[in-house]
Amino acid sequence: MPVTINAPLTLPSGLTFPNRLVKAAMTEGLADSRNRPTEEHVTLYRRWADGGAGGLLTGNVQIDRHHLERVGNVVIDAKSGDDALDGLSRWAEAAKSHGAAFIMQVSHAGRQTPKLVNPRPAAPSPVALGLPGGQFGEPRAMTADEIKAVVEGFGRAARVARKAGFDGIQVHAAHGYLLSSFLSPLANRREDDWGGPLENRARLLVDSVREAKVQGGPGFSVSVKLNSADFQKGGFSHADCLAVIDMLNGLGVDFVEISGGNYEQPAMMDTEGLEPAYEDTRRSSTREREAYFLSYAKSVQERAGMPLMVTGGFRTRSAMNAALEAHEADLIGLGRPLCVDPATPLKLLSGEADATKWESQLRIGPGIFGPNSPIKLIQALNGFGAMGWYYEQIRLLGAGKPTDPKLGVLKAFMAHQKKETSSAKAWRAAMP
Ligand SMILES: Cc1cc2nc3c(=O)[nH]c(=O)nc-3n(C[C@H](O)[C@H](O)[C@H](O)COP(=O)(O)O)c2cc1C
Repeated sequence: MPVTINAPLTLPSGLTFPNRLVKAAMTEGLADSRNRPTEEHVTLYRRWADGGAGGLLTGNVQIDRHHLERVGNVVIDAKSGDDALDGLSRWAEAAKSHGAAFIMQVSHAGRQTPKLVNPRPAAPSPVALGLPGGQFGEPRAMTADEIKAVVEGFGRAARVARKAGFDGIQVHAAHGYLLSSFLSPLANRREDDWGGPLENRARLLVDSVREAKVQGGPGFSVSVKLNSADFQKGGFSHADCLAVIDMLNGLGVDFVEISGGNYEQPAMMDTEGLEPAYEDTRRSSTREREAYFLSYAKSVQERAGMPLMVTGGFRTRSAMNAALEAHEADLIGLGRPLCVDPATPLKLLSGEADATKWESQLRIGPGIFGPNSPIKLIQALNGFGAMGWYYEQIRLLGAGKPTDPKLGVLKAFMAHQKKETSSAKAWRAAMP
């Protein structure tokens, strides 16, 4: 019998996904001004749970309230009070109400922390993001003690997540956030035990996974999201990725999710048009053109001792089933389509739909105002604009309302920016 999206999967920890479709991590931005989960999280995840995915990953939950990717992130840090546990438990209960496995993605935003949150974010080295628009501050190099506090932070998050009823945590080591920036030779210029050779650059990831395993305890799932590559010249390469997989093999990691890119090079949203000089981005088969990290996943699969989740671009049931059957992926991650229609997994699993609905043409304007504009600022605005569009859909879902696929990108972006700025004020006022 060929493996299909309908087949269950039991991970090494003993955790079972009732089917192979997993809602990928998507930042919700719905926490209250003290970074606790809200009723909007409960409504949102109940709707995603009703949608039938075998697993649900949260958007990134941060281990330090001074290093957020957005003001509305949920935080578990040394300043979190016991009152946060109640909200986390209600969140977990809603997400698991239809039998899906529920995993908390845990992160530290590092130098990708917006200025609104922290004008001097901590990072491996004082290397600023190469992005126009002035949204991010000048990073400063972390001390050895601060680095050790990060390791403890991942452990704390695992302990609290388990207590609240989550099935596991995913250590976020992709997309340019702190752990990913430590892995990158471009962002990490340290000359101590945490920089230089890959073994040193990967130390923070390895130590954080070890600590999460200890604090989560037996049977608690600890997974990792890792870039197949950063797609930047001189950055974290695919060869680096394979070597990190070798390191993770010995650590009891429950599964690895393969993605790619960072804020400077947002390959996680599509690798189309990336300079082939950096990495081989040719896609030989139809399904590799659809799910753009599959060719990388193939080589990871040859090295990985644990199951592999692949996220990015999956839209048709046939490509998903083919990837499973060819053993290129064991779990299929779905992101954007679930912002448009939360019932996407059920429709694919039952055969009611052959493909997901999603918006592929999100842009601020036509031609030179579009994502392929020669002007860097307009390119970036299109990227952030499209994200604002998805954030607005998530906000609607969390409010119990229907999604609005006709929403204009510029309008969504402006509305989103306005809300972020006003929540930043409330957040600063409530800082403990
Ligand atoms: C609105 C939105 C928020 C996201 N937030 C996160 C996040 O918190 N953590 C993460 O690892 N990836 C995040 N991503 C990336 C997704 O997990 C996924 O890798 C990406 O959307 C590609 O998958 P897709 O083609 O199925 O959308 C986000 C994507 C979107 C659209």
